[in-house]
Amino acid sequence: MENKNLWRQFSTQETPFYLYDFNVLRKVLVEATKWSSRFGYKLHYALKANANPELLNVIRQYGIGADCVSGNEVKHAVNCGFHSHDVVFAGVGKTDEEISLALKTRIFSFNVESCQELDVINKLAQDEGTKARVAIRVNPDVNPYTHEYISTGQSRNKFGIPHAELKSVLSKIERMKYVQFMGLHFHIGSQITQMSVFRELCQRVNIIQKEIESMGYEIPHLNLGGGLGINYDDEAIQMPDFETYFKVFYQTLDRRAGQQIHFEPGRSLVAASGTLITKVLYVKETPGEELAIVDAGMTELIRPALYQSYHPISNLSSDEDREHYAVAGPICESSDFFTHKVLLPRVKRNHLLAIKQVGAYGEVMSSRYNLRQGVRRYHVDNERKTETGKEICTLERTS
Ligand code: LLP
Repeated sequence: MENKNLWRQFSTQETPFYLYDFNVLRKVLVEATKWSSRFGYKLHYALKANANPELLNVIRQYGIGADCVSGNEVKHAVNCGFHSHDVVFAGVGKTDEEISLALKTRIFSFNVESCQELDVINKLAQDEGTKARVAIRVNPDVNPYTHEYISTGQSRNKFGIPHAELKSVLSKIERMKYVQFMGLHFHIGSQITQMSVFRELCQRVNIIQKEIESMGYEIPHLNLGGGLGINYDDEAIQMPDFETYFKVFYQTLDRRAGQQIHFEPGRSLVAASGTLITKVLYVKETPGEELAIVDAGMTELIRPALYQSYHPISNLSSDEDREHYAVAGPICESSDFFTHKVLLPRVKRNHLLAIKQVGAYGEVMSSRYNLRQGVRRYHVDNERKTETGKEICTLERTS
């Protein structure tokens, strides 16, 4: 899925900018929905990974719903054409205003993360004269073996309701007039690369499900969250392994007759389609490092600084002999590095570098620290070209 020629077409644009390749996005969506639908699973895309309206428009065309984490995301999803009944809303800190908005929007379900939140939803639903559909987000205490900052399903994490409290929460819901129990929600973390983690999640869910059923409750929906990791190490972009992922659930999860199974992938759907194009401003030496200073920084892509993550980098302007480089941004923080060691064709001032697989948690996490301009974006979509016969790209600037 490598596309150097495509990136070169944009070489006259002002840098830095994100470039989304919707042809790659479509390939990933075809593969994801092929495997999820084979097992009768429904997907809700986690908007937090990338909320670009054009990208959402493509995702929506594949029958995928929206997983939101704020009132603004709920609003945005609906404005971008997602049916309100295809919207789920999770988050440990939903405000009263956000809950009321979601009630008015008549979303599919709130994924409730605390007992107190449940009381607030019940009260606000009464005020709205409606019944809120809720799923309980359970913290199953499963180690996802990922970066500590993106682990969400261990007992020490702030997310969800502990397994031990489930019984009392369920009987509370039973007494509530304005809340309807829809099922259970789990999301244990992101960038999970070991399939055994998902197997362990299923085993925990099976135990919890049995326990709840023995108390006389039915569970119409199970939502297994997102978390499927991608391969950030390779220069060439690879398709996420949706086949193995969904098969793990198919083989391990005890699904009841008629029960709906939902997933909330974010990264795995959109990471591959995004590239950050940046220009080399200066090349200089520091002790032990040849340093390329580029015009994108942690303000455009914070993942390396925040999680010490690596994104493949290539030099679009040269094929000369390769050397090792550190690549850093212009921001006044020593953590503003993309990498300390990458082998690149000899780098010179004004060369363009491509920082790859940044379609997820890239642009959405950008900031204007140091009073930066705000990052631009373009996209290419061959399907649009054939429809309209002309324009293949649009330019939009975020503030
Ligand atoms: N569902 C819930 C409730 C979530 O909190 C998340 C992500 C997802 C689904 C989607 O997970 P995914 O399939 O993308 O792994 N900024 C971090 C990632 C934070 C993920 C937050 N929650 C990063 O750049 O790695």
